[in-house]
Amino acid sequence: MTTIKEAATIIKSGGIVAFPTETVYGIGADATNQSACLNIYQVKGRPTHNPLIVHVNYIEQVKTYTEFNDNAQKLSKFWPGPLTMVLKKVPDSGLANCVTAGLDTVAIRIPAHTIARDLIEQSKRPIAAPSANRSGRLSPTSYDHVYNDFADSIAIIKDKNPSTYGLESTIIDLSTEAPTILRLGFITPEMIEELLGKKVKIASKLSKVKAPGMLLKHYAPRTKLRLNASTLLDGEIGLNFAGSTLISEASLNLSISGNLVEAAANLYNYLHQLDNYAVNHKVESIAVAPIPNESIGLAINDRLSRAAEGF
Ligand code: TXA
Ligand code: MG
Repeated sequence: MTTIKEAATIIKSGGIVAFPTETVYGIGADATNQSACLNIYQVKGRPTHNPLIVHVNYIEQVKTYTEFNDNAQKLSKFWPGPLTMVLKKVPDSGLANCVTAGLDTVAIRIPAHTIARDLIEQSKRPIAAPSANRSGRLSPTSYDHVYNDFADSIAIIKDKNPSTYGLESTIIDLSTEAPTILRLGFITPEMIEELLGKKVKIASKLSKVKAPGMLLKHYAPRTKLRLNASTLLDGEIGLNFAGSTLISEASLNLSISGNLVEAAANLYNYLHQLDNYAVNHKVESIAVAPIPNESIGLAINDRLSRAAEGF
């Protein structure tokens, strides 16, 4: 376990550190240090064409790296918090090239979690951080998830509580005239449309990907998922929601009361648990109950459908 002070020293000296945020844990490095950031790609096994999110504490810092426009100003109401904006990068931003994977835009976020904020403050650096999982796998929402993926190979700051939201940030591309949501999350399309006063597009999973990381198959457990299940097939275990009855020796319920916020917070943790059970007990598939496709349910269904792809 690493303290914030130790972690800040590691970041300043060009190392990498896993740390909690209110969405999921990230693996961070000084966003101005090319070799430190390349190291993130290496430990995650992440393709270098998939850019990273830069984390800072204040809007003033956002403005030093990006062309902060009117839409960004309006949506900054959600900061600090689970929203990432893609904005035009300023010339000579000082950010390491690999952070933006050669694009002329930067994905940037002001996190709310006090540990993340203290780490940025004490290291006095913008911190580039993808989720702290091996590339393509489930995102981590607790210290144990990060430890299970990386053990002692990276320093980890522990939060005794799991992540508040449990889903990666909403990503919105504001670098063009028409704002486009690239990744659904806790900040919903309706919340964004209300502040912008206009409709936003949602990038289709099948359209040509703007975010190279928005691969169809992503966030995947090792076990096959069967979505929208109403009954359990032989040998399956179940992931329930509200009153669904996919009951077996290892079934879980994302939210018995049918609360989507609670379901989002439990999603990755329960998928980690069911996946481990399935691998240890040779269970071939996890049946998942239908989740209402509204509000945060949109983001939950987005992650589930990516996790279910490609088996
Ligand atoms: O909640 C989060 O966003 C977490 C925490 C740690 O902040 N981070 C996170 O990072 O989920 P990551 O790397 O797992 O996902 C970032 C996504 C990737 O799909 C990447 O392709 C996209 O953001 N991205 C990064 N820079 C971009 C850019 N300039 N344009 C479009 N997409 C970009
Ligand atoms: Mg990720």
